[in-house]
Amino acid sequence: MLQFVVDQAKCTRCDLCVLDCPSQIIERTGDAVPFIRPENEERCIQCQHCLAVCPPAAVSIFGRDPVRSLPLTDRSFPDAEKMMALVRGRRSVRRYRDENVDPALVQRLLDALSNAASAINRRALTFTVIDDKAVMQRFRLKALKGLADAAKAGQVPERFAYLLQAVPAWDEKGVDRIFRGAPHLLAISAAPESVCPQEDVNLALAYFELMAQSAGLGTVWCGMAKMTLEVLPDLKQAVGLVPGHYYYTMLFGLPAVRYARTVQRDDAARIRRVQV
Ligand SMILES: Cc1cc2nc3c(=O)[nH]c(=O)nc-3n(C[C@H](O)[C@H](O)[C@H](O)COP(=O)(O)O)c2cc1C
Repeated sequence: MLQFVVDQAKCTRCDLCVLDCPSQIIERTGDAVPFIRPENEERCIQCQHCLAVCPPAAVSIFGRDPVRSLPLTDRSFPDAEKMMALVRGRRSVRRYRDENVDPALVQRLLDALSNAASAINRRALTFTVIDDKAVMQRFRLKALKGLADAAKAGQVPERFAYLLQAVPAWDEKGVDRIFRGAPHLLAISAAPESVCPQEDVNLALAYFELMAQSAGLGTVWCGMAKMTLEVLPDLKQAVGLVPGHYYYTMLFGLPAVRYARTVQRDDAARIRRVQV
């Protein structure tokens, strides 16, 4: 049951919900308010566009009261200059302060992250987070010890061999080449039966990076953490990542480095304009 309810008094019969529904299952006739036929309900992708697009907040679905949504005006979003500065100026941070990020901020970022786009709105993502630096330190030590043991036992596949440079770097110099001394880790995963698990995961991480950096945090995508977890299935299981699910990892925390300017990469991508 979708619980698609339209407030008769508030509805202006503007048909914006009818026009915006991606599945085109909302109908309206004469002076009546919009409705969804029971036989069409299963085609709803649960995107809530009907609730979001309605100017007088007349539409409720899934028991959601539209008045509880964040109202949007022309000034609700960061302006384009600030967004472009964020994209140009966010950096992969590899030096962190030895402090926990405020748990309330982590929670707010993860709540907002649930709004990332996902294919057919499946939202089949799991956010696995290490939000306590003491837990992260235990995880780091287990990972580095696990890698050293796996190397001795000849269990590190050739394609991950360069990970092993991290072991002497840690043992001899205390340098953390894999987790970069970060206090926190976020792994986002999706079951393979999601429509586009890889795209959904990577998109959510990209959104996390931008939100976190705009909130003053440092982040770095961490392929090396993912490789480490692939070499150490017991550790992967211990953090709750399910074999066969697509996932990727990102480190984050309060940065111990501040960048004075952007890099100069506007010309890095090839742009092709197509005329057919
Ligand atoms: C998919 C992916 C995996 C990455 N893995 C690592 C990693 O394991 N360790 C690391 O230090 N940086 C990692 N990075 C960061 C890149 O090295 C970095 O984005 C690149 O050098 C450009 O620097 P910038 O992000 O500051 O612009 C990764 C980036 C991406 C997109």
